[in-house]
Amino acid sequence: MSKIQKIRGFQDIYGEEAKKYRYVVDTFRKVFEFYNFKEIILPYVEDISLFKRSVGEATDIVQKEMYVFTDKGGREVALRPEGTASCVRAYIEEKMYAEGGYHKLFYEGAMFRYERPQAGRYRQFHQIGAEIFGVSSVLADAELISMVDNVLKKLKINYKLEINSLGDFQSRKSYTQNLVNYLKKYENQLCETCQKRIELNPLRVLDCKVPTCKEITKEAPKITEFLSEESQKRFLQLKEYLKALNVDFIENPRLVRGLDYYTDTVFEFITEEIGAQGTVAAGGRYDNLVEQLGGPPTPALGFAAGIERLMLLVKDLPKEKPLITVIPITPDYNIQSIQLSNKLRNINLKSETMLKEGSLKSMLKTADKLKSDFVVFVSDKYELKDMASGQQEIFYTQEDLIEALKDKI
Ligand code: HAM
Repeated sequence: MSKIQKIRGFQDIYGEEAKKYRYVVDTFRKVFEFYNFKEIILPYVEDISLFKRSVGEATDIVQKEMYVFTDKGGREVALRPEGTASCVRAYIEEKMYAEGGYHKLFYEGAMFRYERPQAGRYRQFHQIGAEIFGVSSVLADAELISMVDNVLKKLKINYKLEINSLGDFQSRKSYTQNLVNYLKKYENQLCETCQKRIELNPLRVLDCKVPTCKEITKEAPKITEFLSEESQKRFLQLKEYLKALNVDFIENPRLVRGLDYYTDTVFEFITEEIGAQGTVAAGGRYDNLVEQLGGPPTPALGFAAGIERLMLLVKDLPKEKPLITVIPITPDYNIQSIQLSNKLRNINLKSETMLKEGSLKSMLKTADKLKSDFVVFVSDKYELKDMASGQQEIFYTQEDLIEALKDKI
């Protein structure tokens, strides 16, 4: 029979990789807790118009990357390509704004984008992200960026942080017009995609990787020259706060991001160690989005990190608890063995009962394959073997054995 394979761009994450996944996620979650973010668990499937109206009709994500289908009730739905849109929908739908104050939420889970798979780019990938609703102070931008900086430092990752300001709606509009005028002069020299982008999504031309496009946009007008006084002030303040928090950053006036909802602050944490897909975490402000999706005017901002990309960079995992494997030398000692294993687990020691019967030699070999640090042979006595040193000791009661194990671990 032919074997069934996983779908292109999808992955099984197990073994050491699963440990890295958990380590990345746990590191974020711990830091989120100290910054007082609360978890929100969001649906994987949403009405397709949510993404059209937030991520943007003209973006690559909406134009060509979404997994879209009609459900049995005839609804046009999409697998979420990102988390911000769902978070905003929930903020509005659950009327969180009515509670007053402001909200700090975080989420984690799979996202789906039909992109060309390559190292660090998958069709199902996982993000961990956070959003802040109801705060316009630049303090929030600085704290959010500094929080991500903190986590990446804890994960011991080499990266640079790029920041930019896209300005408010007015600054963006006048900049876009100027950029379009500039790009039109070079229209025939731009790549085919960028020629279409001039009308559809001109800012994206700035992040095209094609060398001729890159060359042309080098001299293009810069968004920072078009910022309103207020946006300029905010950007200056952000830089001041980041310096005060010892966060190193580079200003990149070409940083535009691939989603339409951003205003003012945008940022990307980029590594050079995993090839072309080097952005490990990114985000920014989106002060118009809540209103755009039918909620009250609400300033907001957030970020998301790509868990798989961070997994590629994590080198050292925290040390695991030592494993004690309990082996009944014959089935006559099975009950005694499962009871001993349970006792060990109840005092927070990691224990495995040998579940595969066989000769002593084969069971010891299995214990070694399971990466046991200690083995206990159970008979009318307890023989403890330290797998690293080979040293053996005999105990006549479980209590004595447990005391000895506690001392060693
Ligand atoms: P994004 O830049 O589209 O932003 O995605 C955030 C991160 O997800 C990327 O920097 C990258 O690490 C990871 N990522 C994206 N696509 C893939 C892929 N195909 N394979 C592996 N990893 C990927 C957002 O999604 C925004 N929602 C971030 C945000 C939150 N902005 C404000 N709040």
